[in-house]
Amino acid sequence: MSFNIAVAGKGGTGKTTLCSLIIRQLVKAGKKPVFAVDADANVNLNEALGLEVEGSIADLLVRINNNLDPLPAGMTKDQFVEFKVHQSLSEGDNVDLLVMGGPEGAGCYCYANNLLRGFVADLSKNYPYMVMDNEAGLEHLSRRTTQNVDVLFITSDCSARGIRSAGRVRELVENLKLDIKKMYLVVSRVNEATFDALKPEIEKTGLELIGTIPMDEQVMEYDLLSKPLINLPDESPVVAAVNDILTKAAII
Ligand SMILES: Nc1ncnc2c1ncn2[C@@H]1O[C@H](COP(=O)(O)OP(=O)(O)OP(=O)(O)O)[C@@H](O)[C@H]1O
Ligand SMILES: [Mg+2]
Repeated sequence: MSFNIAVAGKGGTGKTTLCSLIIRQLVKAGKKPVFAVDADANVNLNEALGLEVEGSIADLLVRINNNLDPLPAGMTKDQFVEFKVHQSLSEGDNVDLLVMGGPEGAGCYCYANNLLRGFVADLSKNYPYMVMDNEAGLEHLSRRTTQNVDVLFITSDCSARGIRSAGRVRELVENLKLDIKKMYLVVSRVNEATFDALKPEIEKTGLELIGTIPMDEQVMEYDLLSKPLINLPDESPVVAAVNDILTKAAII
């Protein structure tokens, strides 16, 4: 069974940046291949990883539910869905990416969703680590499209509102009784000068702050030039910060 890491948080709080650098460090530590899942409807993990999107699960579900893809002779519907899921994987040297896509639109996808849950779980067994980029609503986790999570990192930017939103993610996890073994807070784009003022707000969330990621010009530059973040150099302070977080969480 794979070790499952998920990242969730309000929009723009550094989820994709953290995911791609977690993947970078897992690969560097030889913990590969990594199974990356982009479960954010606002798909962008592929760019951070330097991979092309082959197709999304949401599109696949729409096509199957509307019978847009004829079932090949001799294949059951289950086998066909499985085949299509494999086809939509973007394969890299050390990372394979599955894009959930969405929103899924109207209609009931229970049949496909149930199948999918099984396939994602099966697929993840081929990898020692799975890393999932979520949205704050934890849609995929709450629908249990994905299996149990060993570590959930909840991201916040350096604002009181961001921290409170991270606290609400924690409440959601507890209310939904999601199967998440460990939960940590990561504050991103930190400005040392103002960070202390956030500490009372952080305490109120009841979350353990496992680390902070500094504001970094090179990350902004990579974003501007559409360079994959996974290619940031070892000397990057942001890479070092993510490495510390993974070490502290006993993941690497
Ligand atoms: N440590 C950092 N230093 C500077 N800029 C950063 C840092 N982390 C993230 N950013 C920038 O902040 C923006 C949001 O980051 P990112 O895409 O990782 O957040 P997100 O939570 O995945 O956003 P979304 O909700 O839109 O998917 C990006 O433009 C990114 O380049
Ligand atoms: Mg993102």
